[in-house]
Amino acid sequence: MKPMRLAILGCGSRGRTYARIAAKLNDRYEIIAVADPDQAKTSTVVNLCEAGGVNVFDSDEALFAEGKIADVLIIATQDAQHYSHAMQALDLGYDILLEKPAAETLERCEQLDAKAREKGCRIAPCFVLRYTPFYRAVREFIDSGRLGRIMNIRASEGVDAFHQAHSYVRGHWANAAKSSPMIVAKCSHDTDLMCWFADSSPKRVSSFGRLDWFKPENAPAGAPKRCTDGCPVAGDCIYDAHRYINETRNYLRMVMPGAEASSRSGEGVSDEQILEFIRTSPWGRCVYHCDNDVVDHQVLAVEMENGITASLTMTAFDCNRSIEIHGTRGSLRGGEPYREGGAAELWFRDHRDGKFEKVPVEQTSNDGYASHGGGDFGIIDALDRQFAGPNALEPGLMGIEGHRLAYLAEESRLAGGEPR
Ligand SMILES: NC(=O)c1ccc[n+]([C@@H]2O[C@H](COP(=O)([O-])OP(=O)(O)OC[C@H]3O[C@@H](n4cnc5c(N)ncnc54)[C@H](O)[C@@H]3O)[C@@H](O)[C@H]2O)c1
Repeated sequence: MKPMRLAILGCGSRGRTYARIAAKLNDRYEIIAVADPDQAKTSTVVNLCEAGGVNVFDSDEALFAEGKIADVLIIATQDAQHYSHAMQALDLGYDILLEKPAAETLERCEQLDAKAREKGCRIAPCFVLRYTPFYRAVREFIDSGRLGRIMNIRASEGVDAFHQAHSYVRGHWANAAKSSPMIVAKCSHDTDLMCWFADSSPKRVSSFGRLDWFKPENAPAGAPKRCTDGCPVAGDCIYDAHRYINETRNYLRMVMPGAEASSRSGEGVSDEQILEFIRTSPWGRCVYHCDNDVVDHQVLAVEMENGITASLTMTAFDCNRSIEIHGTRGSLRGGEPYREGGAAELWFRDHRDGKFEKVPVEQTSNDGYASHGGGDFGIIDALDRQFAGPNALEPGLMGIEGHRLAYLAEESRLAGGEPR
């Protein structure tokens, strides 16, 4: 089999992550083109590949002007660009691995789906959690039939307070209008999983959510606009930007030029460079004095077409995801918070005898499984099977139901919880 030829549009944090994994699987994938206006980023990808094998473009226009030059286009630009980039790629006949969210409105997701069907092309959104050993184990357990008929699903997503501040208060996804609403930007993974596990689509959705904490009225007395301006509570503040120099340094990989390999081992950038970065960039701002408007806590409740009811809690003030699936024969429960607390990562309770049974989750030492619980590796590992061969996806936008659930939840939240 010839390696699948990949082109990558957008070589930011996500684009480079996929490139690194694909470059390691070089018997199956060949990166033949990259496009990004930032030359340092395209060079990083080029350096992962065989010399002379990668065509470099400095814009989307330049890449698209070449026509269809690869089997699959990975689109890893920012949220507001996905729709236009995916539409242009479909016109050229590309199969697409598309970063989530697929588009910034439900209507546009539906247009992408319709266009992909018309063109006979497949769009796989980067719902990387589907490809993790943990959620694959959940799916396999459902398929085993041991839960009986599923009645409800309860999911929880703890964003983590510092992560919330980094991405949704100071960072790229702080403003819904510039990126996407929180329930779409962060939780479309969860809404996708809920629809995937229910094998259904949303019928009625209701949601409530608010931005309550990351606001000026909660700023400690005397807190300046930037952490570097002598904040009186810095020593006790969860969000103190000086923490980027030490324990939260790895977050800089996503946002600070040159900080790719940023860890305490001295790779990447120096402490002095980080200090300058937090003095000048959005990531040094006091979290109570930013221009953020996305929620920091939200709940949604949904009735699926097949009768399953499900709920999701998103909160900045918890850490990691958990899930419970209740069926007529038993319940499945699991997630990182259980494992952290010393319980099994995934377990089953049989309603008949009340016994608990640990459900195995594949543990792998593969480095690629480090990110998104293994999903980043898993999605690239699955790419050639999804886009070629007997088990390839059907044309269309895979996972449109999860997008629908997230967008309907946001509509409902904005309407004060009115069902949608
Ligand atoms: N699947 C996931 O779990 C997950 C996680 C984080 C982010 N994301 C999504 O992935 C996407 C990318 O996020 P990121 O953190 O890599 O962002 P990023 O800002 O690091 O990367 C975006 C890249 O696109 C490039 N770009 C901008 N305009 C371009 C153009 N016209 N042509 C070519 N390149 C262009 C930028 O220079 C940048 O390098 C976002 O939509 C984000 O929401 C998904």
